[in-house]
Amino acid sequence: MAPVTYSSYLQLDELLALQQPRAELEHDETLFVIIHQVYELWFKEVLHELDYLMGLLRGNDTPLAAATLKRVLTILKTLVAQIDVLETMTPLNFLTFRNRLESGSGFQSYQFRAIEFALGKKARPSFERYPAGSAHRKIVEDRFAQPTLWDAFLFYLAANQYPIPNSLLRRDVTLPLEPSPEVQKILIDVYRKNPTVASIAERLVDLDEGFMEWRYRHVKMVQRTIGTKMGTGGSAGAEYLMKTLNQPAFPDLWAIRSEL
Ligand code: HEM
Repeated sequence: MAPVTYSSYLQLDELLALQQPRAELEHDETLFVIIHQVYELWFKEVLHELDYLMGLLRGNDTPLAAATLKRVLTILKTLVAQIDVLETMTPLNFLTFRNRLESGSGFQSYQFRAIEFALGKKARPSFERYPAGSAHRKIVEDRFAQPTLWDAFLFYLAANQYPIPNSLLRRDVTLPLEPSPEVQKILIDVYRKNPTVASIAERLVDLDEGFMEWRYRHVKMVQRTIGTKMGTGGSAGAEYLMKTLNQPAFPDLWAIRSEL
């Protein structure tokens, strides 16, 4: 057996052979492909950490949950910052290869949908983008059926002796998260009297705000690159994306701000 090397451990040859989707790449197409691949790798890592985080919250492990949240938040900052790199591509550069995408679009990113579902954004399942019976369809359907980060947080609050109603601990996890006056009352008490639990809640606000920030930066990138043109995925483009802005995943954490 050959000894492990840097390249063999990381499967670098395989990884670096993955930037040739079709024919010869246009100059900026290399950047476009690499940046999307990098995003998908980070999405994989974010899902890995979110799964871990949900287990830690359910197990009432505050220090490790805080450390894991910090990791996810640091990745998220990187995801937002990477948009600056793609914005060095001009609209005309993009047009040199845009037609190669055909109907391909970030719309179809099954890992992005999985992250949305993990955060509790279940209002727009859109399974039909993935062929029935396909592996991608299974990934999104499985994630849709699973409890969310917010559900794990409610268990964490319950484990810290807060009276979370049973109806919420046993809610149908395929439904979108609805604001809850009972949970908001509890959260106000947490913020006033329990800095440890409140610090976890604040990191969830950071996470929520971070995703909204990514969406905002993505729309601005779309507007400066394709203006008001339709998306390759078939939506109205920036007009569609604008409607996804300012929709927090954890409404209760935002609602209490004006009561504190
Ligand atoms: C020049 C760069 C980009 C342009 C012009 C662009 C354009 C668009 C457009 C128009 C949509 C709406 C769906 C459609 O009809 O296609 C969309 C959705 C999306 N894009 Fe991009 N995009 C770009 C870069 C990226 C990058 C780097 C990512 C990172 C993974 C990304 C991820 C997504 C995701 C996840 C959606 C779905 C959003 C949702 O449905 O809420 N895009 N993009």
